[in-house]
Amino acid sequence: MTAEYGEAAHQAWPGRRQPGAARKGRVTSLRRRRRALRMARDGEARASLTGQPSMLRDGSLVLIRQVRGTDVALLADCFDRLSEQSRRSRFLGNKARLSSAELRFLTRVDHHDHEALAALDRRGRGAGVARYVRDHEDRGAAEIAVTIVDEWQGRGLGSKLLELLSDRARAAGIVRFTATVALGNLASERLIRTAGGVLAGQAPGSREYEISLVPWQEPFLVEWLGELDAGLAPARPDPRD
Ligand SMILES: CC(C)(COP(=O)(O)OP(=O)(O)OC[C@H]1O[C@@H](n2cnc3c(N)ncnc32)[C@H](O)[C@@H]1OP(=O)(O)O)[C@@H](O)C(=O)NCCC(=O)NCCS
Repeated sequence: MTAEYGEAAHQAWPGRRQPGAARKGRVTSLRRRRRALRMARDGEARASLTGQPSMLRDGSLVLIRQVRGTDVALLADCFDRLSEQSRRSRFLGNKARLSSAELRFLTRVDHHDHEALAALDRRGRGAGVARYVRDHEDRGAAEIAVTIVDEWQGRGLGSKLLELLSDRARAAGIVRFTATVALGNLASERLIRTAGGVLAGQAPGSREYEISLVPWQEPFLVEWLGELDAGLAPARPDPRD
């Protein structure tokens, strides 16, 4: 750091009048900045292992992470806290409990053909789960299910989980999600349509939707080519940029 920068910083912080104090303050602020950077890096490393903190539309915080084999109690608790209506919407019929075999299936996730992401509240209780299961015959397709505990519905958690699940699916080579939605499940239809879902079929009491998963690089390319057409983007990168 140069002396000029130090002087400018000194002038920009009128509270620090003493030159010695200015230097001391500068060192402290540098240390703080380094510590913040270190903590952010550590946080990123931890996030990739244990989860990603996420703020919802209403400002509440959840931790989103992959479901583990040890999450049987967590998922059973989520199911217990679902209203009858939510259970019917999720399982397309009455469902009083999840069997041990079902809980095993829902928690034994290989993170490639079957992925599940759980959102946890501050106390570590489940707030919602989103999962995909790859189609055995059509390897580019996977069926999805999103379930948000009633007290967490309508805050943007379903949308957030679906967005993150889409990223996981792209990484696993999945290009299309399919979803079966009970007739009258407006929240689910809205969630899927907002994610780009289109109606693909109809059965008694339900509708089939498909969501195309555009590969990551394409939205950027389309935007860049559009700007190029409009004369807004340089044809070749400027070396001074
Ligand atoms: C369907 C469900 C997953 C949606 O999750 P959510 O966290 O409540 O939804 P979000 O807050 O992210 O909102 C998603 C969209 O639905 C809309 N929405 C939310 N609740 C709604 C309701 N009760 N009626 C109509 N629209 C609603 C939101 O406005 C939002 O639309 P937008 O992005 O265009 O503004 C959740 O309600 C749920 O778990 N329901 C029970 C189980 C179920 O039906 N699962 C779906 C099986 S695939």
